[in-house]
Amino acid sequence: MRSQKMLAYGAAICASCIQMTSAVTLDLNSTDSIKSAASENGQLTEYNRYYTGDATYNNETSQALLWQAGPSYDFMPENQTKTEGNDDQGFWGMAAMTAAETKFPDPPSGTPGWVAMGQAVFNLMAGRWDNTTCGGGLRWQIFTWNQGYTYKNSIANGCFFNIGARLARYTGNQTYVDWANKIWDWEESNQTNGTEQTKWQTRLSGLLNASSIFFKDDIMYEQACEDVGDGGTCDTDQFTFKAYFSRWLAGTTKLAPYTRTQIMAWLSPSASAAAEQCDGGADGAVCGEHWTAGSTYDGTYGVGQQMSALSVVQSNLVDEAPDLVTNTTGGTSQGNAAAGSTSSRTSNSQTVITPATGGDKAGAGFLTALIIGGVLGGVGFMVWGE
Ligand SMILES: *[C@@H]1O[C@H](CO)[C@@H](O)[C@H](O)[C@H]1NC(C)=O
Ligand SMILES: *[C@@H]1O[C@H](CO)[C@@H](O)[C@H](O)[C@H]1NC(C)=O
Ligand SMILES: *[C@@H]1O[C@H](CO)[C@@H](O)[C@H](O)[C@H]1NC(C)=O
Ligand SMILES: *[C@@H]1O[C@H](CO)[C@@H](O)[C@H](O)[C@H]1NC(C)=O
Ligand SMILES: *[C@@H]1O[C@H](CO)[C@@H](O)[C@H](O)[C@H]1NC(C)=O
Ligand SMILES: *[C@@H]1O[C@H](CO)[C@@H](O)[C@H](O)[C@H]1NC(C)=O
Ligand SMILES: *[C@@H]1O[C@H](CO)[C@@H](O)[C@H](O)[C@H]1NC(C)=O
Ligand SMILES: *[C@@H]1O[C@H](CO)[C@@H](O)[C@H](O)[C@H]1NC(C)=O
Ligand SMILES: *[C@@H]1O[C@H](CO)[C@@H](O)[C@H](O)[C@H]1NC(C)=O
Repeated sequence: MRSQKMLAYGAAICASCIQMTSAVTLDLNSTDSIKSAASENGQLTEYNRYYTGDATYNNETSQALLWQAGPSYDFMPENQTKTEGNDDQGFWGMAAMTAAETKFPDPPSGTPGWVAMGQAVFNLMAGRWDNTTCGGGLRWQIFTWNQGYTYKNSIANGCFFNIGARLARYTGNQTYVDWANKIWDWEESNQTNGTEQTKWQTRLSGLLNASSIFFKDDIMYEQACEDVGDGGTCDTDQFTFKAYFSRWLAGTTKLAPYTRTQIMAWLSPSASAAAEQCDGGADGAVCGEHWTAGSTYDGTYGVGQQMSALSVVQSNLVDEAPDLVTNTTGGTSQGNAAAGSTSSRTSNSQTVITPATGGDKAGAGFLTALIIGGVLGGVGFMVWGE
């Protein structure tokens, strides 16, 4: 994942990032207050729609997803793919699954369903599973010429796991359950004792326990960079991580309700603190990243900071949000189990796409454990949840 792609991603899910409302107006005991704070931000994503029921930006969100899906509906659009990594493609596959689970309006007829797009990403990734080294795993990069091809990392495999687990839940197809287990076993653990439920509950418990490293006095912070040096060393990618983590934690409460007490004990104070950080800029309504600093604006601004603040605020609406659907509980998204599986893009050594040169390459930003824990933690419960 690279900064410019993160910005594109942010821009796509963020129809018009304007401003977060000022701190003082957020009352976490009031649903209206949270909705008001979230909608004033202008970052109305499918997630925002899910939380608030506001469909104002459905068309823009749909257009953004379909545009990025590309002519093959696999999130490998021709002119962006030569620098694409498994994590980049994975984030879009996860967005497609969110669209299906939240009953986001189906694409126009003649276009594959959101589930089919998730399946295309899944099948491409499954084709890249590489047992020539380390006994399996996905490489960070898809293509040999990109820096990071020789590296098998948590975010690439976490995204693959996430999509597999969600396809298992949505479609009920055992193949995806098997893959989710295979990916997890490869990555983390190979305990197979106990029942399936005990196994996944233990895994989720372990991930949640480990997540406490990302909280200081129950306020979320990016320990890898926020307190490092003078004023922090967070890069463009890292500024966005609290957005995903907030959303994944909130989603976890939905599918594994026993986690709610622990998770809301983090998300509520974090939302209050984040709103207090939104008093920067000329108009006193720009969000900083140092939520632990209270109302002392940290001087940073950008798409990532806005996304993070919005996400943690609206995550406090999760109790009001409808359940995530599956194919048997009201979901209407059409699938295609074979999507992507005949594509030459599956292969690590495919030759259709030529290497990127010079300016195409941005400095590689390694994702931190925050997002790794998030990707796994947010969805580890999904297989168990079945
Ligand atoms: C919110 O409600 C809780 C109890 O329901 C109460 O302790 C707390 O003071 C309330 N906060 C505000 C800001 O009203
Ligand atoms: C969304 O797009 C469709 C087709 O272009 C149009 O009919 C509809 O009015 C749009 N909805 C909104 C809320 O803009
Ligand atoms: C990328 O491809 C689309 C068509 O698929 C084209 O409209 C767009 O201009 C291209 N963008 C760049 C930067 O080449
Ligand atoms: C590696 O994967 C290939 C292709 O899926 C399979 O034929 C082979 O048996 C696997 N090797 C091991 C050691 O798992
Ligand atoms: C959903 O269920 C219907 C009816 O059994 C089936 O035809 C369809 O393929 C399923 N779709 C998905 C995405 O699993
Ligand atoms: C876990 O997997 C590793 C690598 O495949 C293997 O060496 C180890 O024996 C496994 N441990 C258990 C407890 O199955
Ligand atoms: C499963 O195995 C682990 C590690 O070997 C052990 O700590 C745990 O107690 C076992 N759980 C059950 C339910 O047997
Ligand atoms: C997580 O922490 C709780 C509370 O300390 C503990 O009971 C539980 O065993 C822990 N779970 C794991 C998997 O370590
Ligand atoms: C389940 O998924 C696998 C892998 O994509 C596919 O080959 C198979 O056809 C699917 N089964 C059904 C019943 O859709």
